[in-house]
Amino acid sequence: MIYAANFKTNHTRKSTELYLQELSLNIKAKNVDDKVYIFPPATAMDSYEGDFTIGTQNAYAAHHGAYTGEIGIEQLDEFGIKTILIGHSERREYLGESQEKVSQKFSFFQEEGFEIIYCIGEPLEIREKGFEAVMKYLLAQFDGIDINYDRLIVAYEPIWAIGTGRSATVEEISTTHRALKKAIDNKPLLYGGSAKPSNIKEITSIAGVDGVLVGSASLDAESFSEMILS
Ligand code: PGA
Repeated sequence: MIYAANFKTNHTRKSTELYLQELSLNIKAKNVDDKVYIFPPATAMDSYEGDFTIGTQNAYAAHHGAYTGEIGIEQLDEFGIKTILIGHSERREYLGESQEKVSQKFSFFQEEGFEIIYCIGEPLEIREKGFEAVMKYLLAQFDGIDINYDRLIVAYEPIWAIGTGRSATVEEISTTHRALKKAIDNKPLLYGGSAKPSNIKEITSIAGVDGVLVGSASLDAESFSEMILS
């Protein structure tokens, strides 16, 4: 299983360091096949030691240059970071990242050999229209994306389940993952949206779920460790 923690705009450099120390100790007992990823805020990036991979929540599709407020490959290289989240619904919505922008970013980081966790997800009004509408919406989020990229991990995150405390049901996750797995040629597929210690076992037991992308419940090292060790 893959356990990925997306801190979003939470934690500082200091608290990330303490978090990773605690996590490292806690996950010594984890299954050797399980992989742990942490996406801290950019100010907390560093070369931390431990059985986890540090990734970036975002970066600009450039090595360096005049892109005020952004970071590029040069800044990531300093810490050996070669993993990136692309297409998160919060960036699509709040930062105005269109499918075209997202796919350009994807191509750039693919060229650079990055491991990419590519996020897709539908809003509630689409989910309410039924399964066919959901799949049509989700598949459109692969426009311009090379699903054959061998360092691709997909994260399915229904927007209505993110940060709401209400995860999708087993049935919703199961049918959506089954259809998505076919569409992405069996690439690793994570579920995201209110995954937490109390529902982790249920979610990771679903066929077609290869792991989770966790926001709120990953912010506390104890809670995230509990999920990893579940
Ligand atoms: P959540 O966020 O776990 O707080 O729902 C998930 C995500 O946005 O990756």
